[in-house]
Amino acid sequence: MARLLEMRGIVKCYGPLRANDGIDLDVHEGEIVGLLGENGSGKSTLMKVLFGMVTADGGGIVFRDRELSGHRPREAMAAGIAMIHQHFMLVEAMTVVENIMLGWPRAGRVLNRAAIAEDIRTVSRRLGLELDPDAVVADLPLGRRQRIEILKAVLREAELLVLDEPTSNLAPVEVQELLAIMERLRDEGKGIIFISHKMPEVLAVCSTIVVLRAGRVTGRTSADKVTRAELSAMMVGRDISSPHVLKPNRPGADRIELSALSADGLGPLTLHVRAGEILGIAGVDGNGQLELAEAIAGLRPVRAGHITLDGTPITAMPVAARTRAGLAYMPADRSTTALVPGLSIADNLMLRDSRRSPYSRRGVLRARAAIAKAKDLMQRFDIRAPQPTTPARSLSGGNQQKIVIARELDRQPSVLVAHQATWGLDPGATRFVMEQMIALRDRGGAVIYISSELEEIMAISDRIAVLSGGTIAGTVNRADADMTQIGLWMSEHAA
Ligand SMILES: Nc1ncnc2c1ncn2[C@@H]1O[C@H](COP(=O)(O)OP(=O)(O)OP(=O)(O)O)[C@@H](O)[C@H]1O
Ligand SMILES: [Mg+2]
Repeated sequence: MARLLEMRGIVKCYGPLRANDGIDLDVHEGEIVGLLGENGSGKSTLMKVLFGMVTADGGGIVFRDRELSGHRPREAMAAGIAMIHQHFMLVEAMTVVENIMLGWPRAGRVLNRAAIAEDIRTVSRRLGLELDPDAVVADLPLGRRQRIEILKAVLREAELLVLDEPTSNLAPVEVQELLAIMERLRDEGKGIIFISHKMPEVLAVCSTIVVLRAGRVTGRTSADKVTRAELSAMMVGRDISSPHVLKPNRPGADRIELSALSADGLGPLTLHVRAGEILGIAGVDGNGQLELAEAIAGLRPVRAGHITLDGTPITAMPVAARTRAGLAYMPADRSTTALVPGLSIADNLMLRDSRRSPYSRRGVLRARAAIAKAKDLMQRFDIRAPQPTTPARSLSGGNQQKIVIARELDRQPSVLVAHQATWGLDPGATRFVMEQMIALRDRGGAVIYISSELEEIMAISDRIAVLSGGTIAGTVNRADADMTQIGLWMSEHAA
């Protein structure tokens, strides 16, 4: 098949950091190229260079025999490159067809709404997108919204689609559907660049896999010639695919208890977690996970029932008081709930502590102490960034997530609620987070680990509860866990 894209010797520097350090990448028609690499290895930067969101300091790009240089996203789109953004650029109050027409000069002048709606139906049927042109975006689940972006790309006749971590916040079924859509696009001759930290996904659909490490290509291979272990060795220089060994625990008294708790979209729900215990909450996303996490954190009003933390009722406590009582929370939506992107790493690390000494004295922040602390946390949690004063916004996705993890774990909480703690993390960082959960448990903490990754839940939970339709469908000790039973619970009242 003909070559679509040729990137040669791409260099992109941020100050002294060489985020891309001479990268070559080719994509052909009808080819899915997987781009793998640790957090901060330069994947998104390379895609931003391609799409014209940042300008490279060196190297060249040829797309369909035309040179692209000093280009902007508008030119990249006109040339036939589409970027499926992770934060969808959609207007929620509008319908699918209205969103498609938005900002498309051809629509409106040449095409009318009915014609576009008809095109949407045709393409949707052909690719299995299951999109109704008249559906309002706000009513659509995440997976469907993403498909609007894909539809947009196809209608605008893009030849190359870039998907940067498109699967990290999809439910497992939606992931499988997306992979199938990608295969259909490939069969129609499109080129696709697929970025993911999930090796099974990459191995399933990619013909070529390119591995980046510290801004350079460290491996180029085909999916049928390589194993997971070999790929992780290319990414980090060692094999990190071996499983965890969870030593038996000796749980103590209850640290957190929820009794007959109900909130909007949740309950009634009863559960407890003891000191030295990890309770894994499994289930298909959208079955009350967010509601449960927010109700415990104090971000969602409780309608009935009680929450006690180390014997103290906290049901009506505001967020800050819960924090002081020993509760830590890692929300799934780090970009808006957990981080302030415009603030520095150091400030983000202190968001919850700034009123306590030694970081604050009579309200005045002791900047030096904060910086020293931030340096220490950056080292311990492997947050890769130039300095503590670097704005959180300029970090790679995974490294932003590590800021939240470092901040919440460093407080040595007695109870931690972690919701999708490993979203966007590379395999090494995922492993590190799981080890930290186990360490907290071994120090006598109680962990509520909410995740749609059953593999992670099985690896670290002492007990597993399945959340389905806003309630607990069943609970089982890890030693007695039976996957068939867990699967049945998951689908019991699933949303
Ligand atoms: N605007 C910026 N200013 C300063 N440094 C930046 C900026 N954008 C990216 N970087 C740095 O460039 C490096 C590569 O980042 P990039 O986002 O490309 O990584 P990535 O491979 O996509 O990682 P992840 O898997 O975490 O998404 C990181 O060290 C990051 O901190
Ligand atoms: Mg990235």
